[in-house]
Amino acid sequence: MKTYRLGKTGPEVSALGLGCMGMSGMYGPADRAESIATIHAALDAGITLLDTGDFYGMGHNEMLIGEALKGRARDRAIISVKFGALRDPAGNWNGYDSRPAAIRNFVAYSLQRLGVDHIDIYRPSRLDPNVPIEDTIGTIADLVKQGYVRHIGLSEVGAETIRRAAAVHPISDLQMEYSLISRGIEDEILPTCRALGIGITAYGVLSRGLISGHWQKDTATAKSDFRTFSPRFQEGNVERNLELVEALRSIAGNTSATVAQVAIAWVAAQGQDIVPLVGARRRDRLEEALGALALTLSKDDLVAIEEAVPKGSAAGARYPEAQLAHMDSEKNR
Ligand SMILES: NC(=O)c1ccc[n+]([C@@H]2O[C@H](COP(=O)([O-])OP(=O)(O)OC[C@H]3O[C@@H](n4cnc5c(N)ncnc54)[C@H](OP(=O)(O)O)[C@@H]3O)[C@@H](O)[C@H]2O)c1
Repeated sequence: MKTYRLGKTGPEVSALGLGCMGMSGMYGPADRAESIATIHAALDAGITLLDTGDFYGMGHNEMLIGEALKGRARDRAIISVKFGALRDPAGNWNGYDSRPAAIRNFVAYSLQRLGVDHIDIYRPSRLDPNVPIEDTIGTIADLVKQGYVRHIGLSEVGAETIRRAAAVHPISDLQMEYSLISRGIEDEILPTCRALGIGITAYGVLSRGLISGHWQKDTATAKSDFRTFSPRFQEGNVERNLELVEALRSIAGNTSATVAQVAIAWVAAQGQDIVPLVGARRRDRLEEALGALALTLSKDDLVAIEEAVPKGSAAGARYPEAQLAHMDSEKNR
């Protein structure tokens, strides 16, 4: 598999990363054995970048990755960990904590759960409004000096925060939602990252399955599934969004690819500094996603895709309003 350096200073990673979030309840129940088999299949296929968060299943996701890596060459995996989101035993979300002492505590637990002596990329999941980004990055920079962390990343922050963070320590990559129907980063955030030599790890490239070609209006979701309350999946919006998927399906047919492969290949085609993270939690989904790497979209394909799914054509926001309101990346909406 092709590899790229993440930003000017980041690690070399596979052209596709595996996001493990869905293996820990964010999209309803997942099968543990299948999740581990999916991580193994990804590593065997040459995927090196594994993305997690300490709050995905309140540690469950890190322990799962730790188990999957047992007996494997740890250094062949690039483990990206997000921290800072606070939860309670019922799984409710309780804001963010990026205070220096909290970060040192979070990283100690993550290293234990993952069973590793360092984390490759460590990043705050969101901007903590009560802590200057300089303090957060400065604390992770100390962890880099101490050998517990190799690179520093960011997630869902806007241009000003990116610049302030990069002034403290080199930033390998910004993790942002980016897909055919989530193109908010194109105006200011992507150009800022490019100017500073920061890579992008793009999540939600299938808009959490909505534009995968497999989603149907009546697909059942569990109460704990993010999609149960995500605006784009709600009645009144989902119909419009699935029309866009059908428009994409006819283009996919012309390229002998699936809808999911076209959606992933479109993100990959936006630049070599952008690495799509796919949220496969089953081997068949992973195999389909890997097929996107063999798909090269021509200029004509890209034009046809833009016509089928014009920028801003999705119905509904990418997160519920209450969450968008706290996202630094959405500050200039
Ligand atoms: N930084 C952040 O704020 C943030 C936020 C969210 C996620 N992330 C990271 O990004 C990763 C990817 O995000 P995501 O899971 O929302 O992205 P996604 O790839 O857009 O959606 C994944 C979902 O799409 C469905 N799907 C259908 N066909 C698929 C295929 N061929 N390959 C993969 N999935 C397919 C699956 O649902 P079914 O299994 O139900 O079919 C899967 O759970 C996460 O795992 C997480 O590590 C980061």
